[in-house]
Amino acid sequence: MDRVRIREYRAEDYNAVRQLYTAGFVEKLDTLYVHVLTRPWVLCALLASLPATFWLSGGSVRLSVAVAGLFLLGLRLAVRNLLDRGIRLGLGDDLRDIGASYMTPGRVACLWVAEDGDDPRGQVVGTVGVLPCETQPGAWELKRISVRLEFRGRGVAKALCGTALAFAARNGVRDLVLYTSMLQADAQRLYLRLGFTKREEFLWPSIPAWLVGFTVYKYGYGVHAAP
Ligand SMILES: CC(C)(COP(=O)(O)OP(=O)(O)OC[C@H]1O[C@@H](n2cnc3c(N)ncnc32)[C@H](O)[C@@H]1OP(=O)(O)O)[C@@H](O)C(=O)NCCC(=O)NCCS
Repeated sequence: MDRVRIREYRAEDYNAVRQLYTAGFVEKLDTLYVHVLTRPWVLCALLASLPATFWLSGGSVRLSVAVAGLFLLGLRLAVRNLLDRGIRLGLGDDLRDIGASYMTPGRVACLWVAEDGDDPRGQVVGTVGVLPCETQPGAWELKRISVRLEFRGRGVAKALCGTALAFAARNGVRDLVLYTSMLQADAQRLYLRLGFTKREEFLWPSIPAWLVGFTVYKYGYGVHAAP
C-alpha cells in the first residue's frame, strides 16, 4: 500500500477508470462460464445432445462430438454477450460522464482513484465511488470498486473504501448500500470485512440472467458506525 496514493478523480483519469471497470468484468468470464455449465438445464441439454445426434446421424461419433462442441462454443459466446451487456450498462450509466455523476460541486458524491506512486505518470490502479442511491431514496451507494490485478491483496480496496466511508460519515450519510453478484466472491469478503451486511438476494431481472441463475446481492452499512 506504501506505493499507492489515493486522490479524487480528475478528468484525465476518464479512460483509465472505464478500462479498470471493464477489466474487472471481463476477468469473470471463466467464472460465469463454469457457473452456467453447472446449470441443470445446460447439463441436461448437453447430455441429451450426444445420444440424440448419434441416433439422428445414424451412429456418427464425430458428428455427435462436433454438435456438443458447437453447443459449448455457443454457450461461451452467449456468456460473453451477457457480460458485455453488463459492461455496457455501467459504461452508459454513471461512468458515461464521470465528472457530472461524481464531481459536481454541492452534490454528495465523489469518485476516488488509487494511483501507483512508483509510476511517473501515476497509473490508476484502483477506483471507488459514492453517489445517491437511485433504488433506495435517502441512501447512498458505493460503486465501481475495482483494483488492478497486480495490485490486489495489499489493502488498496480497503483503503479506497475507507476513504469513501469517511467521506460518507463527514457528509451526514447514514445508510450506505452496494450491489454485487455471485461472481464477486473476493469483493463480498471485502464488504463483510468492512462491516457491511447482506440485506437482499435476487435474480437479475432479465430472461438471459434468469436462465443462467445470475444472483445479485445487496449489502448495507450503517454509517453511524463510522470507521
Ligand atoms: C474485490 C477487490 C476490489 C479487492 O481488492 P484488493 O485491493 O485486493 O483488496 P484488499 O487487499 O484491500 O483486501 C481487503 C479485504 O478483502 C478480503 N479479500 C480481498 N481479496 C481477497 C481474496 N482474493 N481472498 C480472500 N479475501 C480477500 C480480505 O478480507 C481483505 O482483508 P484482510 O487482508 O484484512 O484479510 C478486487 O479483487 C477486484 O478489483 N476485483 C475485481 C472487480 C470486482 O469484482 N469489484 C467488485 C464489484 S462489486
